Amino acid sequence: MEGRGPSIRMPPKITDPRKQAALEKLKNVKYVVAITSGKGGVGKSFIASNLALTLKTLGYEVGLMDIDFHGPSAPKMLGIRGQRLIALSGGIQPAQGPLGLKVMSLDFLLEDDDTPVIWRGPIKTTAIFQFITDVSWGNLDFLVIDMPPGTGDEAITVAQEIPKIDGVVFVTIPSEVSVLVVGRSIMFYKRLGKRPIGVVENMSAFYCPDTGKTYKVFGKGSGRILSEKYGIPLLAEIPLDPRISEANDEGRPYVLAYPETPVTKSFEGMARKIAEILKTPEGRSEEKTG
Ligand SMILES: Nc1ncnc2c1ncn2[C@@H]1O[C@H](COP(=O)(O)OP(=O)(O)O)[C@@H](O)[C@H]1O
Ligand SMILES: [Mg+2]
Repeated sequence: MEGRGPSIRMPPKITDPRKQAALEKLKNVKYVVAITSGKGGVGKSFIASNLALTLKTLGYEVGLMDIDFHGPSAPKMLGIRGQRLIALSGGIQPAQGPLGLKVMSLDFLLEDDDTPVIWRGPIKTTAIFQFITDVSWGNLDFLVIDMPPGTGDEAITVAQEIPKIDGVVFVTIPSEVSVLVVGRSIMFYKRLGKRPIGVVENMSAFYCPDTGKTYKVFGKGSGRILSEKYGIPLLAEIPLDPRISEANDEGRPYVLAYPETPVTKSFEGMARKIAEILKTPEGRSEEKTG
């Protein structure tokens, strides 16, 4: 391109005005943190909701946005199912979770438990923009997002449409299949230019309430393998503990019901690491903290 002067690289223009409005709104949010996994049933919602509460206990302003439209479960785990949303002139008031956590989920909008969600892509995209733009989130330190699982069409659309994701937390379980699936997910987000914060291995060992002992069931966990393979921090290893699923089913947030357990401590460690990593500009944080 000689003789034509220097070429200037412009950032890609956001052409969708809804996306522009969402981006504007997210300027009041310091860090948008997406919680994702290669597949469902691995504890993504459990981790998203308890991480959000732990960040609250550390004194941060936090919101939780549940956009797993086909399995919205954060409200149940937080014990706030059935709350009615109120629309004021300034926007929709998010539901109030424990400790004043601000929560938005499709679950608050569904008529009953049997209503299947059969939305197609464009409607989901619209819903996501509305969850961001039309909700009075106020100023937040963290907006934690419970993402849809997978690396298929839906996950791609969602990850691309959210105009600001400051970091992604990957949830894995201890199996070789999970290494593959979550590895793909890490590469997928990297390719989209989203920063991986780290990996959390859930159900990593078995905690037996009868003996108080933790039994290792698998060898080297998938969390450690992924952390080493992709050079991202291992944020926590959370054991399989019957009290966790009990608490989730009963709507008693685990970290508040059991403030002194190793699991709750590991949530605290995870929350501190996430805050620490996000405060460090990208590129200088890539040495391991796990
Ligand atoms: N560490 C754990 N120990 C015991 N049960 C767990 C643990 N993590 C999650 N669960 C349970 O596993 C199920 C799936 O968790 P969930 O958070 O809904 O997964 P996802 O959002 O990835 O689909 C829930 O019933 C939850 O209570
Ligand atoms: Mg879920």
